[in-house]
Amino acid sequence: MKQTELQALLADMSLEEKIGQMVQLTGDFLGQEGIVTGPEGRIVVTPEQARLTGSILGVSGADKLRAIQEQVLAGQPHHIPMLFMLDVINGFKTIFPIPLAQGASFEPELAKRGAQIAAAEASAAGVHLTFAPMLDLVRDARWGRVMESPGEDPFLVGAFAEAMTKGFQGDKLSDKGKMAACLKHFAGYGYPEGGRDYDNVELSERTFRDAFLPGYRKAVEAGVAMAMTSFNTINRVPSSANRWLMRDVLRGEMGFDGVLISDYDAVGELVSHGIAADDREAAKLAILAGVDIDMMSPCYLNHLQELVESGEVEERLIDEAVMRILKLKNDLGLFENPFKDADEAEASRLILCDSFRREAREAAAKTFVLLKNEDAILPLSAAADETVLLSGPYCTERRICGAWSFPDTYDNIPNVLERVAEGLSGSALKAEYAPGCSVTLRGSILKDKPEEGMTHEETEKAIREAAEKAAGAGKVILFLGERFYQTGEGSSRTELSLPGMQMDLLRAVSSVNPNVITVVFSGRPLVMTEIEQLSKAVLMVWMPGTEGAGAIADVLLGKREPEGRLSMSLPFAAGQEPLYYNRFRSGRPRFSSEDIKGYKVGYIDIDYWPHHPFGYGLGYTEFTCSPVKLSADTLEAGGSITASVTVKNTGKRAGSETVQLYLRDAAGSVVRPVRELKGFTKVRLQPGECREVAFTITEEMLRFTRLDMRFASEPGDFEVFIGHDSLTENKAVFRLQA
Ligand code: BGC
Repeated sequence: MKQTELQALLADMSLEEKIGQMVQLTGDFLGQEGIVTGPEGRIVVTPEQARLTGSILGVSGADKLRAIQEQVLAGQPHHIPMLFMLDVINGFKTIFPIPLAQGASFEPELAKRGAQIAAAEASAAGVHLTFAPMLDLVRDARWGRVMESPGEDPFLVGAFAEAMTKGFQGDKLSDKGKMAACLKHFAGYGYPEGGRDYDNVELSERTFRDAFLPGYRKAVEAGVAMAMTSFNTINRVPSSANRWLMRDVLRGEMGFDGVLISDYDAVGELVSHGIAADDREAAKLAILAGVDIDMMSPCYLNHLQELVESGEVEERLIDEAVMRILKLKNDLGLFENPFKDADEAEASRLILCDSFRREAREAAAKTFVLLKNEDAILPLSAAADETVLLSGPYCTERRICGAWSFPDTYDNIPNVLERVAEGLSGSALKAEYAPGCSVTLRGSILKDKPEEGMTHEETEKAIREAAEKAAGAGKVILFLGERFYQTGEGSSRTELSLPGMQMDLLRAVSSVNPNVITVVFSGRPLVMTEIEQLSKAVLMVWMPGTEGAGAIADVLLGKREPEGRLSMSLPFAAGQEPLYYNRFRSGRPRFSSEDIKGYKVGYIDIDYWPHHPFGYGLGYTEFTCSPVKLSADTLEAGGSITASVTVKNTGKRAGSETVQLYLRDAAGSVVRPVRELKGFTKVRLQPGECREVAFTITEEMLRFTRLDMRFASEPGDFEVFIGHDSLTENKAVFRLQA
């Protein structure tokens, strides 16, 4: 449709009809079963309201959505097609590793490809829009939703924001296999007090702008079609009522011109927040703040019309919102083809097809982070004539895709035992198995089913049996981890540990066999100190997705190397959280690069430093990095300088290194971070091979929100660090000219 036709359509719509477009319900209001992701039971809908609803969430399936669309088109006065939205986070049915793991790949292309595959599958299943990418910067591992974010660094989050948005949306939303994306949760949801989900966020405007906004901004620049408000407050105003945040910052400063949707019942929750007296006032605050679609609350549904009729809300605001919604439907091509790509045959051809599975497997290996590898115990040699004992609950666990994934069945997700056995077939190395324990003890976690998990007595026996077998084995590989729903929405934790009996298993096995390799599944950074003390090698595999087990077998057997680098710092103890590398300089110690490690501040019982810093991870080979070379030692506004190093593979295998560039402002008008990631690149080198890696530094990269609140650079000295992780001391200095 042309813009003039959209305008004519809008002009012809009744107020009731327009408000219908601004309401989103779950499929059950149209008699459809679907995924339920939030509270239920507060909304009562008349048949007329159901008929006018503009979008639903949580339902997929080509035939199902076609049937709904036909019903909507027949009943809707202007035959306006409905939008179908769903949480397609790290995959639709072929699931990639969780976003936090994808961040650890330091390979935005991987996330782009994951989003393309997800869009191809989901759009064939009739879905038009996904509630992704989630771009909340995360600094506190206690928060359950860290699994959904690319990590703790603004630059890294920004790189993934752009890649995922482009992956889902392609060049044109109406193209086959593409779907609209929705950045979320605007804004600052990733920093709730104490890591408690939905809690208050306290941030200075300067830090909010410099650290938290850049990721979202990249998605806007990449043309993201929708944005979602967050549940939290910023400066004590909940986002869905925050006019400054939505109208001035998101639309005004960042230039977002797409549709703004509330999070699930977030408009209704303005009453719980205590800033609206009732649903009516909540509706008014939200529309004034610029929320176009009210997801799953009764506020717009029951009160918007009256607010307009009473003159409290100008109809102009409704028209603007509805025009944005109509435009999105038009951009998706729904007026010409209301079913878009919904096609049952195409969906069954694409979903979980061999090539998608293969790509998911390759992607997963790139996200695994090897934390320790004493005596180069990994990779295993398939030619070794010995027995390796496989033990621990994740040997047989198939729920390895993370909390925001909804496979139709877990039966076709291979487990570790199956894939390691396949990898070893025909080789001298033999595998034995002992369960060891279940992921959680029976009845220990509220969300568990009553029959799930071993009892205490069964666990003691299973640990004894595993230890007996371990004593006779050459090596032991333990597959341990958090339960998949211990991270995700509403799953914050105060302890960053594995369930106790999994640690008992590790202790028992390592007391009889010194060659223990521990593979850890998790949706967040965990405290790994004891695990590392008791193991010769430790591999973090996060929640690795549909083909995660195959990727683990590939990495253990050396068919692939673990390429991941931490996208969030690993703590020594949960009490260190929030923990992130790019914190601010303080008066004690006075930070200079030299004394950075000499001081013990912060705690008297543990180190101030992370156990493993952001950017850290080992591979199967070793690299050296030459001193940083600068093309000039002064930078002029409008100019650039090049910082370069030569990286050499000094080991015996081919492998890749993630070379990271950090900058540090020597002095600013406000306190600056100790260093900030400003570039990264992956190089793959053969044994003995060298390569020069160069980064361009421009004045733009040095900008920040200054004392005068201008986003601009300040002349002076800057340090350039290039190396393996965020603690690298390999540096040079340049001066930014006035
Ligand atoms: C979550 C969102 C999600 C929405 C719809 C909410 O509870 O915060 O991330 O997109 O539900 O499922």
